[in-house]
Amino acid sequence: MQVILIGFMGSGKTTIGQLLARTLATNHIDLDEFIMQKAQQSITEIFATKGETYFRQLEQLYLKQTLKLPGVLSTGGGTPIIAPNAALLAHSKIPIVWLSTNIQTTFQRIQNDTSRPLVNDLDTTALIKLQKKRNPLYQALANIIIPTDELTPQQIVAQIQRQL
Ligand code: S3P
Repeated sequence: MQVILIGFMGSGKTTIGQLLARTLATNHIDLDEFIMQKAQQSITEIFATKGETYFRQLEQLYLKQTLKLPGVLSTGGGTPIIAPNAALLAHSKIPIVWLSTNIQTTFQRIQNDTSRPLVNDLDTTALIKLQKKRNPLYQALANIIIPTDELTPQQIVAQIQRQL
């Protein structure tokens, strides 16, 4: 069983990924975690010392590897935005679930988080712009779309299960 979760920062990809994997009795793979383990550095450190371009190279390399593993894959918010990654995801034939969130939800969840370099580096207007720019790309890739704002994690997982 394989499922891919996509969505903006703060959309719940990691939380829902863990819960969905438990419910489906399969593994959970978090791409950011996978990158951190391989690089032996936090995402913030990778961005700070080697830059975003280098991070995106690692992300592409490890996306290829993690797509071969069984289980639920939680991607990073920017993973499907890079064209080669979008192609890898689309050609994988694995169901892709977009956890969609409105801008308020995003901000409530990410504003005080220092572990996300883009949240530290961008102001509110730039983050809103980024989400607006990315949403059509998430939508185009997704086979299943879950508007998550009003739902509990359990309800989100139940909706995904029903649509798989
Ligand atoms: C990013 C999202 C992050 C992480 C990196 C870049 C992005 O993942 O991959 O900081 O470009 O949106 P989360 O969506 O899990 O925060």
